[in-house]
Amino acid sequence: MDEYPNIPLQVHSDPTKRGTVCIFGTGDFGRSLGYKLLQCGYVVVFGSRNPNSSNLIPRGAEVLSHAEAAMKSSIIIIAIHREHYDFLMPFSDILKGKILVDVSNNLKINQYPKSNAELLASLVTGAKVVKAFNTVSAWALQSGTLDASRQVFLCGDEAKAKEAVMEIVRSLGLTPLDQGSLLAAKEIENYPLQLFPLWRLPFYICAGFTILVFLYCLIFEVFHPLVTGKEDTSYLIMISIANRVFPIVSLILLALVYLPGIFAAIIQLYRGTKYSRFPDWLDKWMLCRKQLGLVALAYAFLHAIYTLVMPIRYYVRWWVEYYIKAQIKSNTTYPFLNYYAWLSDSYVALGILGFFFYVLLGITSLPSVSNAV
Ligand SMILES: NC(=O)c1ccc[n+]([C@@H]2O[C@H](COP(=O)([O-])OP(=O)(O)OC[C@H]3O[C@@H](n4cnc5c(N)ncnc54)[C@H](OP(=O)(O)O)[C@@H]3O)[C@@H](O)[C@H]2O)c1
Ligand code: HEM
Repeated sequence: MDEYPNIPLQVHSDPTKRGTVCIFGTGDFGRSLGYKLLQCGYVVVFGSRNPNSSNLIPRGAEVLSHAEAAMKSSIIIIAIHREHYDFLMPFSDILKGKILVDVSNNLKINQYPKSNAELLASLVTGAKVVKAFNTVSAWALQSGTLDASRQVFLCGDEAKAKEAVMEIVRSLGLTPLDQGSLLAAKEIENYPLQLFPLWRLPFYICAGFTILVFLYCLIFEVFHPLVTGKEDTSYLIMISIANRVFPIVSLILLALVYLPGIFAAIIQLYRGTKYSRFPDWLDKWMLCRKQLGLVALAYAFLHAIYTLVMPIRYYVRWWVEYYIKAQIKSNTTYPFLNYYAWLSDSYVALGILGFFFYVLLGITSLPSVSNAV
């Protein structure tokens, strides 16, 4: 992360094409963003406490004192941690009217009563503060692996200031997403700290059903034979019970994906309009359909894989051998029963067809595919 010489700096900067951007702070994030800005044709000026000792600065950028750097640009990116924001107060006069971009994050959700961006705005009155870039990592900026995080959430009270920052975001090949006024900064600052925020409810639903069905199978297939007949069938847990739980929960989840749509249609018909809000519970349910569908598909996959390993199980092989030995001992050949041949082939064939339709449903639910078809 700290070594720039390994990275080919293809700086095709044409100062006449793009403006100058000032970055306060020559840490990881400041340098990475500066590097990306230089690549995209901006002139980059760093404001640092030690302008002469910064040796990892991307080639082509200038490092000056904070005051000198601030005078070179109307946009200043504050790549400094919130704890050090008071150092900006002496520069209030120079920063008046400038656009200050707050990129900072915190270590905990809702760590402070006031968002970092609001704190910055209150410390440097007269500056136009815009929150942006905090969901982009220094590593992604530097290595160019921005595919997963192309969206840059931003907010601010000044429309023109926001537009100027959005212009920079776009020219870096990223997508700006305006989240509104600076009041939204607190939420934006929480984004990087939320692990799969849209997955919380679907996760609880899936885990709940999986545990419920597993316990049901455990009681009936392991505990019940143990208590009533002193028979140890605990070996069923690893594959037999798992292979029962996954397809059953998968079908329940599939039902949960389509059920809210039916409820929504009934509500719309009953109300005679589609322009009224659904109840909160239905809203939340509708919003997690995609996740439930994905888990349903994953569980169906697991069921297919578990089914494939059936023939190599010791328990299955033992029964096959036992069956053969029983025929030898009794000197009989059990008859080939057409009925059972049809039955076993039918359910495996139906399983394969079912799996095919599952995958088809999953693929056609992708927006890009459904738009094309
Ligand atoms: N790293 C990431 O991936 C990432 C991603 C998104 C957002 N951010 C945010 O970007 C900001 C910078 O992060 P970073 O990773 O670059 O941190 P960092 O490597 O620790 O750099 C912070 C920089 O702030 C300056 N600084 C430190 N103490 C200071 C003080 N007392 N007064 C004035 N300036 C001081 C220093 O620059 P000088 O020595 O040049 O003065 C230092 O290099 C943070 O707010 C962070 O939350 C980081
Ligand atoms: C490659 C595709 C599939 C194959 C080869 C297959 C095969 C099988 C087999 C052999 C069983 C019996 C397992 C046992 O008795 O231990 C079974 C059970 C079952 N399968 Fe599939 N299946 C497939 C896909 C699916 C799909 C996509 C679903 C729907 C989610 C599904 C739902 C079920 C259900 C609900 C059971 C009954 C579970 C139980 O109560 O034991 N199967 N399948």
